[in-house]
Amino acid sequence: MKRTEHLPATAFSVARMRELAGQRLPRPIFDFIDGGAEDETTLRDNEACFQDWSILPRPMNGAGVRDLSIELLGQRLSSPMLIGPTGLAGLFWPQGEVAAAQAAQKHGTVYCLSHGSVCTLETLAQAHSGVRWMQVFIYKDRGFTRELADRAKASGYQALVLTLDNQLLGKRERDLLNGFSIPPRFGPAQLMAFARKSRWWWAMRKELPRITFGNYVRENRPESVAELAGRMGSLLDPGMNWKDLDALRQHWSGPLLVKGVLHPQEAKQAIAQGVDGVIVSNHGGRQLDGALPSLRALPAVVEAVAGQVPVLIDGGLRRGSDVFKALALGAHAVLLGRPHLWGLAVAGEAGVSHVLSILHAELDRVMGLAGVRNIAELRAGDFLVRNQSPGR
Ligand SMILES: Cc1cc2nc3c(=O)[nH]c(=O)nc-3n(C[C@H](O)[C@H](O)[C@H](O)COP(=O)(O)O)c2cc1C
Repeated sequence: MKRTEHLPATAFSVARMRELAGQRLPRPIFDFIDGGAEDETTLRDNEACFQDWSILPRPMNGAGVRDLSIELLGQRLSSPMLIGPTGLAGLFWPQGEVAAAQAAQKHGTVYCLSHGSVCTLETLAQAHSGVRWMQVFIYKDRGFTRELADRAKASGYQALVLTLDNQLLGKRERDLLNGFSIPPRFGPAQLMAFARKSRWWWAMRKELPRITFGNYVRENRPESVAELAGRMGSLLDPGMNWKDLDALRQHWSGPLLVKGVLHPQEAKQAIAQGVDGVIVSNHGGRQLDGALPSLRALPAVVEAVAGQVPVLIDGGLRRGSDVFKALALGAHAVLLGRPHLWGLAVAGEAGVSHVLSILHAELDRVMGLAGVRNIAELRAGDFLVRNQSPGR
């Protein structure tokens, strides 16, 4: 694995990368990544529920050579681990979205750009020739959703991801406590926190005044970042409904996925309306606290979908064995949220690449120990047992 000065030899797990990110980032920014909504029950349960299952290995299967590649929406990927959409990645590392996308490209996997990226979707497309997806919302101004889709198409994004679970903003109490706002405010308390993390501050000093939501900036109508954030917030629409999915399906001819599905009937309805993939997700516990943890929602969604389209999952995946369990329960692929951001915060592209390498090596080792030769075998096999008393 490539080392940088930021990556000590002890950076051997995602949990260690999280600790290193905590050392590097100002507290309000670390907490913005790390935290969840309200009591963070769903955030915790997303991770804990991987302990509901134990792996039942079959070491005599002859898994001396393992193939972790998958076919997804017509693309061959080297790994079933994709990078999920996360807003403001450019706040954690200079040009963070570009750095993370380049790491994903190097690992032969998908990078999904968030609606709320710091750089514009066009800037990312210029710097990236791998497989990239674009994430959008249904906005009160439906025309803006269509506009983002059109821009994504013009910039060669291969799929559109419609996030369903952000129609109101979750109540994130760590952010309230830290005075962290979107856009980030740079008042005395924040500046003090920044000053304590001099390496991050030094790397970001030229970027900070330019931190914005790139995709929302209107060239012909200048507005402050605060005005822009206010406009963004007012664009969210809790009244969105299935007709809106129909309209987007009519508008976007490429692969369309819905993200934020927990209910099996929602998955069925979305498929009936022509989506090409379903992402089981609760936004990493950042939106509806008390929502079902992703892994617990997965089996019923997989059953409802009945193989019609790929089912993906995110939330709480921190180990190769977690990825193994998600795939064994029928997911076609997983998305990484916080883990890639911790990598990004520690060492930019090299840090994201390091996180992907850690998880790839862990999944490969688990497959070797469990006697699984490839992902199709893992999904079809019988490698898990439900524990009697689940939970960590
Ligand atoms: C800092 C941060 C920003 C996020 N921004 C978005 C976003 O803009 N759009 C979106 O659909 N999901 C967003 N998410 C949710 C992730 O896509 C993903 O669902 C979640 O992080 C998965 O859980 P994990 O962090 O445990 O891997 C964000 C998550 C984090 C941590």
